[in-house]
Amino acid sequence: MLTLIRCAILFSGNGSNMQHLIESLHHKRFKSTQENTTQEYEIEITLTLCNNPSAYGITRTKNLGIPCEILSHKNFATREDFDKAMIHILHIHKIRYVFLAGFMRILTPYFTQSFSIINIHPSFLPEHKGAHAIKDSFYSSASYGGVSVHWVNEELDGGEIILQEKVAKLPNESLEDFEYRIHECEYNLYPRAILSALNLRMQTEIDSTKG
Ligand code: GRF
Repeated sequence: MLTLIRCAILFSGNGSNMQHLIESLHHKRFKSTQENTTQEYEIEITLTLCNNPSAYGITRTKNLGIPCEILSHKNFATREDFDKAMIHILHIHKIRYVFLAGFMRILTPYFTQSFSIINIHPSFLPEHKGAHAIKDSFYSSASYGGVSVHWVNEELDGGEIILQEKVAKLPNESLEDFEYRIHECEYNLYPRAILSALNLRMQTEIDSTKG
């Protein structure tokens, strides 16, 4: 039997993580990590949602053939009103999971309690929460930065970690080069973390175990 898992990606800007998630997961089939089940799952990125009408990611999502809802937060008096409007759209599309990919709005409990939500953050959490994580990691005394994928709760960058990886700093590396390597790590980690969180594994991983 095949079960469709309807997901949405929220973004605010460049949208490179959004693009990588779509390319890695959209309309791909997976098996459960549990033994003794023939159940198959297909992930569908049913839509993307962007709060910034001038975001470059809107072009990416259109090129990928995924519908994009553009909902400017500036048209709403309060965070709660904006979140309720997003919830309404996502409910119409029967969305089960929400993946945040550079979504630069703080979510209210209305939203965080409405869906299972996953976020990617460019630091080795709990180190360097907030909007300047790559720069803060780079200029810190630690020998590494990192990437973390976590469940979202009411606390900013504070939910349970799903997967995280350290990215070692290189001698004489520029901030731009460090940032590039952080993003490369993100593109690899985010789809893997989502599959892990949903208890899914690639079909090929199963096939390769067959004698
Ligand atoms: C990424 O570094 C992500 O970890 C952070 O915001 C950035 C978004 O980049 N939350 P992009 O829009 O996916 O290119």
